[in-house]
Amino acid sequence: MTVLSFFAPVQDLLPLVESRMRQQADDRHPDLQAALRHIIDAGGKRVRPTVVLLAGRLLEADQDKLLTLAAAIEMLHTATLVHDDLIDGALLRRGNPTLNAQWTPAATVLTGDFVFARAAKLAAETDSVAVMKQFAETLAVMVNGELTQMFDSRGVPSRENYYQRIYAKTASLFELSTYAPALLGQVGASLRETMRQYGRLIGNAFQIVDDILDFTGQQAAVGKPIGSDLLQGLITLPALYYIENHPTDERVRRLLEDGYHNQANTNALVEAIRHSEAIAQAHTEAVALAEEAIALLSHFPDRPERYALEELARYIVNRTY
Ligand code: IPE
Ligand code: IPE
Ligand code: MG
Ligand code: MG
Repeated sequence: MTVLSFFAPVQDLLPLVESRMRQQADDRHPDLQAALRHIIDAGGKRVRPTVVLLAGRLLEADQDKLLTLAAAIEMLHTATLVHDDLIDGALLRRGNPTLNAQWTPAATVLTGDFVFARAAKLAAETDSVAVMKQFAETLAVMVNGELTQMFDSRGVPSRENYYQRIYAKTASLFELSTYAPALLGQVGASLRETMRQYGRLIGNAFQIVDDILDFTGQQAAVGKPIGSDLLQGLITLPALYYIENHPTDERVRRLLEDGYHNQANTNALVEAIRHSEAIAQAHTEAVALAEEAIALLSHFPDRPERYALEELARYIVNRTY
């Protein structure tokens, strides 16, 4: 990852963000310190802090506040993953065993809570009430989205329902990653809004690609379980397209009749979707969102960070992990 050129303008800053994250368990229970180290050392792509730093520098935000904000957002992301893996029963994340693979649910929930708390504290250290409000609002949107997914997951969702879901779970946090730096930057309301839109577009593209990789990705590269969405009853964009294109497919019919618990049938359907045109259809949609995001960047000053954000949008739709 670090060889990718969009990192270049913020290459020296990312380690500072990580050290701010690491400090968050100082003076706490040794197991909590070890857990935080385990999660942070596992890495992750660090896409969100990269977005924060690039957007913030482009808009001339204070560097120290940006570092704190980037750490806050990556901590929030990390906390959601800790809880998400427990909820999903996932045993692998960032190529490593998850906390819930090693600890009790109680210890895992509490560790996630601790990470949320530290994320909130870091957000407050930006000294911006507007940033804190957005931060809290984003977490509410994400949690509400996860609950909606949990309670409404019967039958085939509409495309509209899918878009709402990916906004809530992923794009809302990307939106925060561009809007909060804009709130800290030297920029008027209209450009702040444009930056926010850019974040939402790349966030939606990011999640569509994540949903594609759940069908096409290599588990060793992706570092988390593959092929699991449909088995968990989660109908994502590639599956939606496949179902639309093949309404009379025996496996689709059986999925709708028997549900996801017929594992042999669901596995066969995953295999069919993986090799179908639905993958390219979903990808075309992600590319269109990235292009829309890139077009918005023309409103911003002609600086290296702007080109890095352009490349980042391209990377998001071309990534294989
Ligand atoms: C995983 O996010 C959760 C999703 C929103 C798909 P990332 O793919 O950014 O995970 P890491 O941080 O790189 O591990
Ligand atoms: C990730 O959701 C959690 C959030 C984005 C809040 P998923 O369960 O769909 O993502 P992965 O596949 O585990 O990363
Ligand atoms: Mg999950
Ligand atoms: Mg997923």
